[in-house]
Amino acid sequence: MTDPDLDPSAVWRRHAGPCVLLDGFHALKHALRFGAEVPVAVTADRAGALALAEELAPDVRDAMDALLAEVPQETYASLVPRPHPTAVAALAVRPSRAANLRALAHRPRRTPVVVLDQPRNLGNAGAVIRLAAGFGATGVVTTGTLDPWHPTVVRGGAGLHFATAVERLEVAELPPGPVFALDPEGEDIRGLKLPDDALLAFGSERSGLSRELRARADHLVALPMRPQVSSYNLATSVAMTLYHWSAGGGAPHVP
Ligand SMILES: C[S@@+](CC[C@H](N)C(=O)[O-])C[C@H]1O[C@@H](n2cnc3c(N)ncnc32)[C@H](O)[C@@H]1O
Repeated sequence: MTDPDLDPSAVWRRHAGPCVLLDGFHALKHALRFGAEVPVAVTADRAGALALAEELAPDVRDAMDALLAEVPQETYASLVPRPHPTAVAALAVRPSRAANLRALAHRPRRTPVVVLDQPRNLGNAGAVIRLAAGFGATGVVTTGTLDPWHPTVVRGGAGLHFATAVERLEVAELPPGPVFALDPEGEDIRGLKLPDDALLAFGSERSGLSRELRARADHLVALPMRPQVSSYNLATSVAMTLYHWSAGGGAPHVP
């Protein structure tokens, strides 16, 4: 009989509940780069995964070599909702809420926090987490019912939930700092410098900024848009705003 401590699918099943799924080579690569704890990683093609690591991510090649257990294709397919073209999957320990709250509240804050006020679309939330990671934002906070650690959001975030502090909070619990809330009726962003410690807040896809968020906002800020266009997509609005912050001198923070 196989020792359950050594059998990758038994180890997987033990960790599957509390951990988050890293779906595919790139998600595992990012999670390892940003210090995620990964108790188990499997692949149906170990040689292929390590060749990919040598070519695209030599910095984590040895970590992948130590972690990746090869399993038959059917075993791999039984562990994931949908097989990924790279046939790689791993489980990562979710960072503690306390650690994320400390990171969000830490002062002085050198890069903004992105606030998504009652977002609805899981794909948008994942894309925003990827953007926030790319720009070195301190974190992404959501208000409302969407779980920013939902498996679909984690998939959209490409393993970058580990590169920025991702938590759900009430508006009243937002970390301190000036709130710049994005709204088409606001002041043109092109005339503004966004401070490094800003909270950059964005409304929901359906109804924009909530009353509570508006009440907490220090500034309403608009992205340039020709008349007759009602609004941009949520994730593209975040992209433009983070780009504007970075172009004003805010640099992606490399710890
Ligand atoms: C899809 S839009 C929301 C549209 C919604 N129907 C409304 O009434 O506002 C989602 C969010 O993106 C941001 N956004 C979109 N276009 C914008 C613009 N031109 N200027 C500032 N923010 C914008 C806002 O934060 C907005 O709440």
